[in-house]
Amino acid sequence: MTARLRSIRSLRRPLAALVAGASLSMVAASFTTAQAGEVEVLHWWTSGGEAQAVGTLRDLLESEGHGWKDFAVAGGAGDSAMTVLKSRAMSGNPPSAAQINGPEIQEWGELGLLGNLDEVAAEENWDELLSPIVADMMRHDGHYVAVPVNVHRVNWLWANPTVLEDAGVEVPTTWNELFAAGDALREAGYVPLAHGGQPWQDATTFETVVLSLGGADFYRQAFVELDQETLESDTMIEALTTFRRLRELMDEGMPGRDWNLATKMVIDGQAAMQIMGDWAKGEFTAANMQAGSDYLCAPVPGTADDFIFNIDSFAMFQLEDADASEAQTALARLILQPEFQQTFNQLKGSIPARSDLDMSESDSCAQRSMDDFKAASETDTLVPSVAHRMAMRSDVQGAFFDIITNYFNDDSVTAEQAAQRLSQAASLAF
Ligand code: GAL
Repeated sequence: MTARLRSIRSLRRPLAALVAGASLSMVAASFTTAQAGEVEVLHWWTSGGEAQAVGTLRDLLESEGHGWKDFAVAGGAGDSAMTVLKSRAMSGNPPSAAQINGPEIQEWGELGLLGNLDEVAAEENWDELLSPIVADMMRHDGHYVAVPVNVHRVNWLWANPTVLEDAGVEVPTTWNELFAAGDALREAGYVPLAHGGQPWQDATTFETVVLSLGGADFYRQAFVELDQETLESDTMIEALTTFRRLRELMDEGMPGRDWNLATKMVIDGQAAMQIMGDWAKGEFTAANMQAGSDYLCAPVPGTADDFIFNIDSFAMFQLEDADASEAQTALARLILQPEFQQTFNQLKGSIPARSDLDMSESDSCAQRSMDDFKAASETDTLVPSVAHRMAMRSDVQGAFFDIITNYFNDDSVTAEQAAQRLSQAASLAF
């Protein structure tokens, strides 16, 4: 068992006991202190594109006369935000709404802290609006406890066409083409692949390579079923090997770099490409760049027919104050309004959480994402992101992050050893 998994496990039980049991009265007492009609919203959207996108939600809530108390915790993929959320919950004072994604919604539901959104869901017809895979994720114990904002696609490659042209290369569609393009780009003085060396960014890149080399069924066997044989297989070893080779294409400044600064390297023409989910598109949009001409999007090599999804959602905590509760219900309702969905998702880079909206005004990358999402749902090649909390419990995910990052950065660890470690970590899940 890794140290991180041990420490998360030792934290989880006390958190469950503390929050669900002994301190419930303290939790209830603190709920009444919220200012009337105000919702405190925890999220991690602090980059240029993200801040613009979340600003539209704040404005909309305020236009209905409610208050928005911003609780932004910087840090890509929300690792820091989740730590802060746990400590707020442990002190009996969770925010009224928090960005919580994937199976973690269930973990919070089990603690008995989430409110019930069934009434607004019925009034607004969420059962009809949301695809079953999305709706299921928003329910705990059969009741709606969260509301989805969007669908992000993770397996995207972003490129600066001027840089590619200058180096005489095309957008690569295979890993060999990518490595060959890398040589030409280096020769021409560019960083081939912009990257930020943070565990979640390493995991984001890694999962796209696994999908590319193994396909959707293999990916699910490994990351959803946590099948040990699959995790130790030759295909996984090959994926680990290709993944680490990508370091050849990255620059020395990558350790610790935030994802949006890596995107900025592509925007500024210092780097040619970046593998990142389509929140990167929010940065190109914020820089006034147009999809298809100023920047290009393409599926990560070998994943054109597949779609790694990452759904952002807000879970609502139980409230006692009637005004605050009303504001919270308004927030849940507004999030799925068609107009908000269109505006927010254009700025955020994602596609709407509801699939009935007209995409004709959207940019070419968003249109492609929606088409591919629908196609992948039909061909069963839609898979949940590991790096973005969609695929597995948070303790196993934390252990996977450690193994992936450690392997990526330490050449003394072999691909075979890393595969074995993933398999061992998976065995702890049962
Ligand atoms: C993801 C999240 C996105 C985006 C990204 C970078 O986990 O779903 O909305 O914000 O992190 O922080």
